[in-house]
Amino acid sequence: MLQRAPLSTAAAPSIPSRSQALLRSLPRQTRPALFQTPNYLSHATHRHYSTELKAQVDIKDQSSASVVDSSKVHLRWKDGTTSRFHSFWLRDHCHCPECYHSVTKQRLVNTFKIPRDIKPKSVSLSSTGLDITWDHENHKSHYPFTWLNRHSYDPKITDPYLPEGAPKKTWDNSIASDLPEVAYKDVMESDKGLAEWLNNIHVYGFSFVSGVPVTTEATEELAKRISFIRETHYGGFWDFTSDLGHGDTAYTDLALGAHTDTTYFTDPVGLQMFHLLHHDGEGGHNLMVDGFHCAKILKERHPASYKLLSEIGIPSHSAGDLSTHIVPSPRRNPILNHDPVTQDLVQVRFNNDDRSTMGHLEPHQVDAFYEALFDWNRVLTDEKNLLWTKFQPGRVLIFDNWRCLHGRSAFTGKRRMCGAYTNWDDYRSRWRTLNTSAKQLAEDL
Ligand SMILES: [Fe+2]
Ligand SMILES: [Zn+2]
Repeated sequence: MLQRAPLSTAAAPSIPSRSQALLRSLPRQTRPALFQTPNYLSHATHRHYSTELKAQVDIKDQSSASVVDSSKVHLRWKDGTTSRFHSFWLRDHCHCPECYHSVTKQRLVNTFKIPRDIKPKSVSLSSTGLDITWDHENHKSHYPFTWLNRHSYDPKITDPYLPEGAPKKTWDNSIASDLPEVAYKDVMESDKGLAEWLNNIHVYGFSFVSGVPVTTEATEELAKRISFIRETHYGGFWDFTSDLGHGDTAYTDLALGAHTDTTYFTDPVGLQMFHLLHHDGEGGHNLMVDGFHCAKILKERHPASYKLLSEIGIPSHSAGDLSTHIVPSPRRNPILNHDPVTQDLVQVRFNNDDRSTMGHLEPHQVDAFYEALFDWNRVLTDEKNLLWTKFQPGRVLIFDNWRCLHGRSAFTGKRRMCGAYTNWDDYRSRWRTLNTSAKQLAEDL
């Protein structure tokens, strides 16, 4: 069993002091994506929440809060750092019951009715935060110090682009000796078990669940512990054999190379679950490849190919059933997709079988594209990166389809599988609510 990554319950942002070291850890690129020079070649640093928030203000010294030029409020922290907030920004972010619904977490304030030149009439410090009375409608606002510290933008005290939760751990086939796994009973009976399962998926990109009753009903219940099942043109919960029930190679007994599913959706499916219910033949082993690990290797060995596969859009489609002709919007998406601000790799989209005609390439891109594709394929098919496991009735596999590629060996005999897709956002929402305190989540908004 793997040493589990700790659950990120203490996901409070790190503010040990407003030290230069912390400021240096802020991403270099914080300008809007439009103005950025893409730099896929710089390794993303491991930036994660680590320690508890310590937002301290000397409240005995009321001069710690002051109004400057009416247009800004200055707040001096105990270590001497001063945060500057625009008056309008503060009024717009008032979280009093009139301005913010504490249950729905939605704004009630009408931003467009706030005078653009609104000013504080008075500012003062209480034990928990900053109090402001405004010159418009005598409105009173209270801002907790922890919230002000967390969202300070001048200067930025906390990295606003910190990745959530425990750091991801990339892997090669040596993970086979110690696979992430949880027990069905734990997942079904407690939120702690469910949190551990979801955190395995967050950290490793996949997890097994053992001791699952060998029925479609139990498997469906397991999938629904995370969220509702995502329906697609293949249906909702699937229960399938190799009878070409749909016009897709998944419904045959052919070997399948490592791929991600639904590259042809605007929003590819987030999680995929498989459960073998019955097999009376040979083969059909499961292949898993960590796309993030392979991307890291590609970047080290072939930086130009990495850059190219991060930029060239690949058109894809699903059109195997007569009534279906699915293509994504935008029509073309790169294989390696990055967060435009942090440049972190966020999604691998790769199914060479679903690739449409590449008629949009510039003539000079054609050879470069195939070179890069071959480099990528070499990494993806390198024996060291292939995790082969045997499907077993009672042992469910679930994986992150935005990170892990999957495939299988050819098989004989009658084979019955069931499984389901989950939306990315709904999986992440469930993971977040189970692994982070409600107070922390509310403060992050
Ligand atoms: Fe697939
Ligand atoms: Zn208010």
